Amino acid sequence: MTNILCIGAGYVGGSTMPVIASHCPEHRFVIVDINEARIAAWQSDQLPIYEPGLDEIVRQTRGKNLFFSTDVNRHIAEADIIFVSVNTPTKMFGKGAGRAADLQYWEKTARQILENSTSSKIVVEKSTLPVRTAEAMERILNSNSNGLHFDILSNPEFLAEGTAVRDMQNPDRILIGGRETESGQKAVEALVELYAQWVPRDRILTTNLWSSELSKLVANAFLAQRISSINAISALCEKTEADVNEVAYAIGRDERIGRYFLRASVGFGGSCFKKDILNLVYLCEHYGLPEVARYWEQVVTMNEYQEARFASNMVASMFNTIAGKRIALFGAAFKANTNDTRESPALEVCRALLEERADVVITDPYALENAGYDLGELAKRVTFEADPYVAANHAHAIAVLTEWSQYTQLDYQRIYNSMVKPAFIFDGRNLLDHKKLYEVGFNVYPIGKPPLTRLVSYNHA
Ligand code: NAD
Ligand code: UGA
Repeated sequence: MTNILCIGAGYVGGSTMPVIASHCPEHRFVIVDINEARIAAWQSDQLPIYEPGLDEIVRQTRGKNLFFSTDVNRHIAEADIIFVSVNTPTKMFGKGAGRAADLQYWEKTARQILENSTSSKIVVEKSTLPVRTAEAMERILNSNSNGLHFDILSNPEFLAEGTAVRDMQNPDRILIGGRETESGQKAVEALVELYAQWVPRDRILTTNLWSSELSKLVANAFLAQRISSINAISALCEKTEADVNEVAYAIGRDERIGRYFLRASVGFGGSCFKKDILNLVYLCEHYGLPEVARYWEQVVTMNEYQEARFASNMVASMFNTIAGKRIALFGAAFKANTNDTRESPALEVCRALLEERADVVITDPYALENAGYDLGELAKRVTFEADPYVAANHAHAIAVLTEWSQYTQLDYQRIYNSMVKPAFIFDGRNLLDHKKLYEVGFNVYPIGKPPLTRLVSYNHA
């Protein structure tokens, strides 16, 4: 039996470890966190994150070979392998503020591992980190005077929220980076063995440490770049009566381009794309590559433009004033099937509408609590309503900001009847049947397609 510890019971720790534990019943897994409320929630029936399929796996493994605890020090002492999946947000102070990764949680964890270890261990970077972080970790951990040896591995996580369990059950690849020393390679092999319990060997890639660390940042940068590329084209489509869905389909049929990640939207959100690209930008600047930095920075700039463009298009279409108008936002989560609202474009649009003094109502099936938290002081000016029919009642407009499938099933005739006329729908996800909505009576504004409206002269004022 191997004692496996995961430090950090957030989205990554909390959704990866239960899946690994379910495939490795002979090993003992503990997930620890300094956040007591979070650990209490993991031990309850109301898990702190919403992920399809996760409840069942936690129920199957919890108390058998999976345990949650706040006693970080004791479990460090007992562990053979330690995964670290603490948060690595964008640094908001000092050198690199607004760009570099804030490594304070990561470094504290490394020091805590050092202080509480009485045996040699494998330490696995699961958090997303700047390339060459493992070098600093090696220095901290191997600076001990009691003869302990720590092998650092990089094993970045590629799961997406909303499909975390599915992604872990059937990953495209598992990436493991390690030192090319004998002990480094032995550590790599130990981790390969763990994943090989359910992942085919040809999907387990091993590389050097730096390639692994960098590949994570690059993967997110490439994914986000595709969204910014199609969103840039959506703006051109709106000027030329081309249809961005048709363009995406046409180009995606070229196998070299591929069809995934070409859904035009109000913008990408989530805790990682922006932060990881900004981190990449910072690294390029640090290594004296300003042209490369500017190239990647544009992906974030384009995303901010798309969010701002969506909100200002709403204002322009609604006769250039939304002050005092009730506007229902359908969706707060940054994507469907998650309760996560970090960097959600829905909240960005909400802020812009509040700036114009609109009366904003947000509805979402799972993310209202997090939306309230993330909006901070502004939450006081927003109404949170679980029922989309109630949210839309007496509203001038609906903005669809999360692609929840529930929103395709609503009775839009009933919604239209309850709204102020002329009634508007701004579909930031191209989710709904626009023709049908137009026939019901709505003025419909999709992304990257001509609007369906009876108010032509006011468009794009
Ligand atoms: P999160 O904020 O949800 O969770 C991190 C947890 O670590 C928190 O619960 C926090 O209390 C805990 N923590 C911080 N310092 C600690 C310490 N010293 N001891 C014990 N616990 C501590 O973050 P997340 O979304 O799970 O992301 C974690 C990392 O994984 C980040 O680097 C992120 O970039 C990366 N990542 C995230 C995703 C995702 O979908 N969210 C996917 C891939 C990679
Ligand atoms: C993303 C990556 O997909 C994961 O591989 C990675 O592990 C993770 O970031 C991370 O490092 O945190 P995630 O942010 O959970 O996962 O979700 P995505 O499905 O990538 O969606 C990100 C955002 O892009 C969402 O707001 C989504 O609505 C938007 N999106 C996605 C589009 O606007 N268009 C698309 O075609 C695809």
